[in-house]
Order: sequence, then structure tokens, then C-alpha cells
Amino acid sequence: MYKIFFNLVFKRMDPEKAHYLAFRWIRLAVRIPGLRTFVAAALAPRHKELRTEAFGLRMHGPFGLAAGFDKNAVAIDGMSMLGFDHVEIGTVTGEPQPGNPRKRLFRLVADRALINRMGFNNDGSLTVAARLATREPVFRTVVGVNIGKTKVVPEAEAVGDYVKSAERLAPYADYLVVNVSSPNTPGLRNLQATEALRPLLTAVREAADRTVANRRVPLLVKIAPDLADEDIDAVADLAVELGLDGIIATNTTIAREGLGLTSAPSLVKETGGLSGAPLKARSLEVLRRLYARVGDRITLVGVGGIETAEDAWQRILAGATLVQGYSAFIYEGPFWCRAVHKGLASRLRTSPYATLADAVGADVRKPA
Ligand SMILES: Cc1cc2nc3c(=O)[nH]c(=O)nc-3n(C[C@H](O)[C@H](O)[C@H](O)COP(=O)(O)O)c2cc1C
Repeated sequence: MYKIFFNLVFKRMDPEKAHYLAFRWIRLAVRIPGLRTFVAAALAPRHKELRTEAFGLRMHGPFGLAAGFDKNAVAIDGMSMLGFDHVEIGTVTGEPQPGNPRKRLFRLVADRALINRMGFNNDGSLTVAARLATREPVFRTVVGVNIGKTKVVPEAEAVGDYVKSAERLAPYADYLVVNVSSPNTPGLRNLQATEALRPLLTAVREAADRTVANRRVPLLVKIAPDLADEDIDAVADLAVELGLDGIIATNTTIAREGLGLTSAPSLVKETGGLSGAPLKARSLEVLRRLYARVGDRITLVGVGGIETAEDAWQRILAGATLVQGYSAFIYEGPFWCRAVHKGLASRLRTSPYATLADAVGADVRKPA
């Protein structure tokens, strides 16, 4: 049914306008008590066997909403109502910024992909922190806060900008993510080099500890799929050395491999980060490499091209404790989470593993 609706309505609309329209409906639905209870019961049934623990946080399951969908923390309950077990808000930058000029989001429907060059359009750390501070949650949801660099702040002053966001947002974050991997902020991905990443992560860790006295806020880093294999290893080693809690793999790609011949060449040519189905193979590869390197010492979050329960299951077997999605939600619609949860629960039941945690990394640990 959603597919018909998508083809008739959303597909004919500008992708960003369609996003805000859907967003408005979700936010409206969650404000109506009877409706939200009904929708949550239908779309977010909880499967006991999928209960998950990651960096000390208990979740209903492993499947969450990737950063970028709810940049300003306005739809956490709405997305929880649709079945996401955790919601990662952001990317939030130190200062508010409008992002890149429109058009900046493109649908490659035939390839089940998106290209975006949004450029961290967001309300800024002060406003988002105030919003989180006054939020009255309807559903119990783990909220991750993803932070990035304000565009006008020079690369040399990036640490201060991240620290500002961390100080303001850490008190409201169940976990904090340092995003150094979006392709749409010039120079941002240079921060993935260990010489730049070490002082950045150390400073954000200190900022979180300084601001939040009563608990240790888990700290993760989100990396790009375009890193060379040696650089992935270097980030993994650094993460272990610094005692980071997790690595999120991966952000969108600047590569254009994996695109079918079906999308219009003019679309494929758009600059920005590619997400969705064409990203699947590389994201899985990066995850496997990370797990082979860090094993159980760091929690891994698999994201990029996850469309089905089988995709999510493959990420878990490759080493992911948590999995996230974004692009497939646009194409699959509100029943997507339900299908992924159902499929994951049935895969676990028929697998040799007693718990989801036992399945994490099982494919990589297997002797060749
Ligand atoms: C329109 C759009 C905006 C995004 N914005 C962000 C962002 O602000 N911060 C971030 O870390 N990732 C962002 N992402 C990347 C996603 O979180 C995710 O890593 C990527 O899309 C791969 O997952 P997918 O194939 O399931 O979409 C964005 C993705 C899309 C499609």
C-alpha cells in the first residue's frame, strides 16, 4: 500500500518537501494519545528475544534510526512509535546553520538510493539542547546525539566547536557520536586522520565527563566508507587505545559504484553522499574489517544500505551489536521496522545462537 502511495504522491514531490510532509504527519500522530498507542502497537511490537544491550544501555532491539532524519530532535517519539529501537538525532553543529542551497536531496528510485548534500542544516547545539531539556518523552527510547562541525568554523578550530556541542548536549545524550564522515562539510573528513582524530575525541570525552558528573556518556565515532583499509585499521586501533565505546560504520559515500544503469545520469552526477542499496556491500565490508580488528572490545554499529531483515542479520553476524537505517525507510515506509523486527526475530529463532549477542560477529569469528 505504501508503495502505491509513494508512487502517486511522494515520488512526484520534491524529496525534501516529501520528507517534511511525512515528518509533519508523524509528529502529528504521536500527539494524539489513542492514535499513537494504536500505531505503536501495530508497528512497533516488541520481541523479547531481540532485547539488546549496547555500551551499558538497554534497548528493545538492535534496530535504530540513523542520523540525519531527525536533525533537530523534534520527532524522537514519532520515530519510536514507528518501531525504531533507538533514535540518533543530528548532526547538530556548535552554531545553527541553514545547510547548502536547495535542491540538495535527490532520489534515485530505480537504484533504491539517495544522494544528499544537505550540509548539516540544523538549529544548532543551544536550541537542540534546550529542546531535549524540556522534552517529555512518551516512549522509552534510547537517544543518541550526533555532533559535527559548524561550516564557517575553520578546520584548525574544529575541536572547540565539537566541545561546545558536547558540553551543551551530553547531559541529554544516552550516547554521543562524533561525526567526522559527512562528505558535505568541506574538510570534515580530514578529521578522520588519527593525528586530528586523537585530540578531537580526547577533548570531546573530557567535555562530556566535565559536564555530566553522574554517569559516563558513551562516546562513538562515525566513519566514512571511503576510507582506505589501512585508515579503517588506524581508526579502529585509536578507538581501542582511547577507550571509545563504539564505531558507527558507515556514513554515505562519495563513490558512485554499485549504481545500476537505471537512474538518470544527471542524477548520478549530483554531488553529495550516496546512501541506500548501492552502499550495502562496502558498508558490510568496512564492518567486517572493523570487527576482525577490534572484536568485542568496542561496540560496532552497522549502517549503510540496510533494506531487509536479512541485511540487518548479516550486519549482526559481521560484528554489529546495533544496526541503523535511513534510506530504505523512504522507499519502504512505515511498515519497514515491523518487517525488519519480525524477520530478525525469526532468523534468531532458527539460528544456532541462543541470544542476539551470541550472533554478533559469528561469521567473522568462524575459522576459515
Ligand atoms: C538525507 C540524509 C541526511 C543525512 N544526514 C546525516 C547527518 O546529518 N549526520 C550523519 O551522521 N549522517 C547523516 N546521514 C547518513 C545516514 O545516517 C547513514 O549513515 C547513511 O545514509 C547510510 O545509511 P542508509 O543507506 O540506510 O541510508 C544522512 C543521510 C541522508 C540520506
